[in-house]
Amino acid sequence: MIAGLVAQRHCKKNAVTASIDRVNFLKPVMVGNALILNARLNYVSRSSMEIEIRVEAENLFTGTRTLTNTAYVTSVALDDTGKPTDVPPLLIVTEDDKKRFAEGEQRMLQRKRERKQN
Ligand SMILES: CC(C)(COP(=O)(O)OP(=O)(O)OC[C@H]1O[C@@H](n2cnc3c(N)ncnc32)[C@H](O)[C@@H]1OP(=O)(O)O)[C@@H](O)C(=O)NCCC(=O)NCCS
Repeated sequence: MIAGLVAQRHCKKNAVTASIDRVNFLKPVMVGNALILNARLNYVSRSSMEIEIRVEAENLFTGTRTLTNTAYVTSVALDDTGKPTDVPPLLIVTEDDKKRFAEGEQRMLQRKRERKQN
């Protein structure tokens, strides 16, 4: 849901989840923890967008936050007829943005290669 929210905020259109990959469960989430979800756009192509999700569990008694999950979601923007449609370019401001974009592009190319093999 959070990936869809980030994607639609960027493209200002309906967007669907095309794939979810590299879902990592790094640490357990304990009963009573609050979950903090962070999502950001790393990369956009023609109609597809890579969103990186990071989940932290917060111990409400100590305030300690632990990174528990990470994942990459690809969302695809759709036009009014339900066909994939162009998304606006991503504004790259910092060196970190540049690095994330380049890494996202490599992952997207890898996804395409894997789809061709299947
Ligand atoms: C995602 C979907 C719209 C792609 O449609 P399609 O007819 O394959 O369209 P295309 O081949 O033109 O691909 C469109 C874009 O999606 C990307 N894409 C397609 N399948 C993908 C996948 N499995 N993973 C990542 N990206 C994918 C393509 O690379 C392309 O990106 P680009 O335009 O940026 O180059 C279609 O497969 C679909 O509707 N799937 C069901 C989505 C759904 O029900 N999600 C769950 C509920 S939200």
